[in-house]
Amino acid sequence: MELMLDTANLKEIERGIALYPISGVTTNPSIIKEEKAEDFFGHMRSIRALIGHGRSLHVQVVADTSESIIAEAEKILSVLGEETFIKIPVTEDGLKAIRILSERGVSVTATAVYTTIQGILAMLSGARYIAAYYNRMLNIDIDAPKVIKELSSLLWSNSGCCQVLAASFKNVTEITTAYANGASCCTVSPSLLSTGLHMPSIAKAVDDFHASWKQVYGDMTILDL
Ligand code: G3P
Repeated sequence: MELMLDTANLKEIERGIALYPISGVTTNPSIIKEEKAEDFFGHMRSIRALIGHGRSLHVQVVADTSESIIAEAEKILSVLGEETFIKIPVTEDGLKAIRILSERGVSVTATAVYTTIQGILAMLSGARYIAAYYNRMLNIDIDAPKVIKELSSLLWSNSGCCQVLAASFKNVTEITTAYANGASCCTVSPSLLSTGLHMPSIAKAVDDFHASWKQVYGDMTILDL
């Protein structure tokens, strides 16, 4: 199982990797727009510097013909390094580019996936991750848990190197439901992770433990014993 951060905000990434078990960072043009980063490659290099080489960085193309997608992928790899994952939307031209790049050994994250058939085609074309848009599916009355479940079981039985990367989450239940339906990876905004831990019940449990300790040992800590 993996957990990634779906943000290009440098402060959020720095804090997120310090606190959470993060295996990578996913970006797309809309996420980058939020940062108003005029120097695109400079910003991507800053993310890489923060996350190091042990975590994956997923960078999306903006071209929409297979030839220009491949050209953009080559540019991204030449500037940011061969280990960069290239995010490509699953359109017809996208699929062609996914297949050609995957055959060359490029790591591809197939994205903008709303349906099982998109995911199957991306998997068969050689993608390493299938980025399935959970909340966006729900918004248009597509059964997101079903799509995640179908893709996860197909990948489990047909591919040793492709994973479902569930994305587009608006609440914590969507994340846990995606994992429970077989997604081996979720990419989430750091604020949703914080939301999952900032609950009155958790805070009360911790406060109660402090109070119990204090009743027996006063102001001493374990280090004072
Ligand atoms: O990783 C894809 C994701 O960023 C899309 O999320 O919130 O734009 O639906 P959203």
